[in-house]
Amino acid sequence: MPAPSPLPAGLPPLDPTALAHGRRVAAHLHDLIARAGGWLPFEQWMDAALYAPCLGYYAAGSAKLAEGGATPAGDFVTAPELTPLFGRALATQVAHVLRAAGSNRVLEFGAGTGALAESVLQALDEMGIAARYAIVEVSADLRARQARRLAACGDRVAWLDALPEAFDGCVLANEVLDAMPVRLFRWDEAGRLCERGVVSQHAGAFARQDRPAPPDLAAALAERMPALPGYASEINLRAEAWVRAMGGWLRRGAALLIDYGFPRAEYYHPQRAGGTLMCHLRHHAHGDPLVLPGLQDVTAHVDFTAMADAALAGGLDVLGYTSQARFLVEAGLPALLARQMEGADAAAQARAVAPVQKLLSEAEMGELFKVLAVGRGLDGPLPAFARGDRRHML
Ligand SMILES: C[S@@+](CC[C@H](N)C(=O)[O-])C[C@H]1O[C@@H](n2cnc3c(N)ncnc32)[C@H](O)[C@@H]1O
Repeated sequence: MPAPSPLPAGLPPLDPTALAHGRRVAAHLHDLIARAGGWLPFEQWMDAALYAPCLGYYAAGSAKLAEGGATPAGDFVTAPELTPLFGRALATQVAHVLRAAGSNRVLEFGAGTGALAESVLQALDEMGIAARYAIVEVSADLRARQARRLAACGDRVAWLDALPEAFDGCVLANEVLDAMPVRLFRWDEAGRLCERGVVSQHAGAFARQDRPAPPDLAAALAERMPALPGYASEINLRAEAWVRAMGGWLRRGAALLIDYGFPRAEYYHPQRAGGTLMCHLRHHAHGDPLVLPGLQDVTAHVDFTAMADAALAGGLDVLGYTSQARFLVEAGLPALLARQMEGADAAAQARAVAPVQKLLSEAEMGELFKVLAVGRGLDGPLPAFARGDRRHML
């Protein structure tokens, strides 16, 4: 079995069980590369590293998300894990969509530990909305974790194995688009477009290797940016297909897509010459996706212009686009925080404020994260986009 690649500098040592799992994942990837003739497109490599049954990062049993957010367990922390106030603020907009769509159905993709479902359902209950909540989750491990956390909700929560044929209601996806496998490209020094793939090296390591880009990749990029010799980045055609396909089944309602990313002009800015691919392991972020496959998260920022275009191509309307901070403020997060702080002692108040600051701060999640709303059949804007809508920037 091949030896794992060396750890990036600064990472804490991994335990022998994790390293043994990493060796099994690496062996699987070397096998895939061999079966593909010695070169595997990065998109397929990332797909297997994250989702290969029983092996991939999201498919096997590692801790991944840090529940509660205060302790550094897991590899990264997401907004719903930081504070239930994130879900409660989101729920104000979910309620608006449900009323406008005449439905009580919520459909969440990639529900992580179930934290968002829990807080949204509680808030909807308090608003007198008896919602039915469905989850589509590709990770069997996370699905089991969600089922444990949401057991008290009984049959109001259900897991779907396939997309609905038709859906009226509100769709949620927090940090899901960034977890979909991307294609990597680079223009070589002569200005020829290449697709980046992965090859096996001696001693069990992996290496990047570029090949001339196939016509579909060249066509997709021709619409997005000029050729820039030496420039490398990524394109998320799977996420685009996912949003486009939503147009086939979202009959009446809206999807709130929350993630880190930018409009296209910023995404493919000439100065962002190395792309946005990022890996997370034990709360360390680094840029090498080829080490420790199966043990670390691999993500790319979202090109929100591409997601809006995909929605339009699928026959959906683009209902709003803004920063997470603006969205949460307009959705009433400050008032929800104030209510939580009433009568609390100073320590409890500080515990409540810290994660909200992280959600709203421009230097943390407030500006990097965006909310894109797409949908069909709703009259008027969603309240959280009434001020600060940035659709004109897409
Ligand atoms: C970074 S985690 C975010 C989890 C959760 N939404 C949160 O905010 O804590 C990404 C999640 O998306 C799921 N996922 C990735 N691709 C998916 C897809 N095509 N359909 C449904 N879930 C998906 C993963 O299994 C995982 O649960």
